[in-house]
Amino acid sequence: MNTALVIVAAGSGQRLGSALPKAFVSLAGESLLQHALAQASGWEVAPTVVAVVPAGWEEPARAMGTGLGPSFRVVTGGDTRTESVRRGVDALADDTDFVLIHDAARPLMPLAVFDRVLAALKAGSAAVIPTTPVVDTLVTQARSTGKTEGGIDRDLLAGVQTPQGFPAEALQAAYRSVDGEFTDDAEIMRQAGHNVDSVPGDPQGFKITFPEDLARAEAVLGHSPVPRVGSALDVHAFDEASPLILAGLEWPGEKGLSGHSDGDAVVHAIVDAILQAAGQGDLGHHFGTDRPEFAAASSQVFLKEALKIATQAGFRVSSVAVQIIGNRPKIGPRREEAQKHLSALVGSPVTLGATTTDGLGFTGRGEGIAASATAVLVPLA
Ligand code: CTP
Ligand code: MG
Repeated sequence: MNTALVIVAAGSGQRLGSALPKAFVSLAGESLLQHALAQASGWEVAPTVVAVVPAGWEEPARAMGTGLGPSFRVVTGGDTRTESVRRGVDALADDTDFVLIHDAARPLMPLAVFDRVLAALKAGSAAVIPTTPVVDTLVTQARSTGKTEGGIDRDLLAGVQTPQGFPAEALQAAYRSVDGEFTDDAEIMRQAGHNVDSVPGDPQGFKITFPEDLARAEAVLGHSPVPRVGSALDVHAFDEASPLILAGLEWPGEKGLSGHSDGDAVVHAIVDAILQAAGQGDLGHHFGTDRPEFAAASSQVFLKEALKIATQAGFRVSSVAVQIIGNRPKIGPRREEAQKHLSALVGSPVTLGATTTDGLGFTGRGEGIAASATAVLVPLA
């Protein structure tokens, strides 16, 4: 019996928000497609594998499948999943008995599920889908008003996964007989008049759809992302004429700081450390004195911008530690308040310490304040 496995990997991954097509995004150091191909080559059935990839990605896909032998095929996908599967199925050899269609977006689907699908086909099923029980209570909801109605018997419902299995000839015929777009291949078989059987799926075969799904898959694989560190120092001289803004707070009765924007050395150091960790230059590069539009800006504007730049570079801030160096203001009494405020601004824990320099240097002489920040960033995916 000849079995083929069509891995559909031609989607763009809009909901993932990555610049790369989803199947080429890295999961624990290897692309989703590589995971799918590695799994295929570890399956004892040794199927003929067809990978359906976005236009322009055929070469990299071919290079990833060299371990699969000469029967490995790469096919260019279409605008919809239905079209991509159609092209994969068209590429099957005439002597193919059974075909399993699998999403590259489900890299952790255990091989036991592939086995169950194939066993059901061999036992005579015309179409087989893996299903998972619905665990949440279900309601219907009016999208416009949010109003819900209950009374849904979830025992009658199931989630549908891939791989889905079919006798190859019947699936090819069904694809020829339908037009339009379908959410899965079993639905096309139903349209063509076939019964669709189910076998137990596996919750571990969840689909990577949103960035948090990638993080979850990495956790399942025991992979911890490698963090990046940035470190920065900012110094401002005291300026009696202005109010003190430090750590995003106002400090009534304290001498202010001179400088571009509000002179908040703490926030400036945090911004600089975040940019450095993300490999995106530094504070002066983005908000220097040659950018007059930032001259009077609150330093919180810089922080928002730096967080955006870090996100675009593929990172999120995991934590920040700041040390203030100077005689005044006394940080201790407002440490909690400042940490809370900064953590809310950054969106992750910010800790704040302070020290004096034993009367030495400009901070010891009370001429100004220095702040040193260390930011830890982790890759988004
Ligand atoms: N797929 C495909 N060709 C398409 C669209 C989707 O081969 N034109 C594949 C995807 O690569 C994925 C599977 O179908 O392996 C399931 O699709 P989905 O999870 O929706 O992936 P994307 O379409 O890439 O993601 P999004 O809908 O967020 O853009
Ligand atoms: Mg899609």
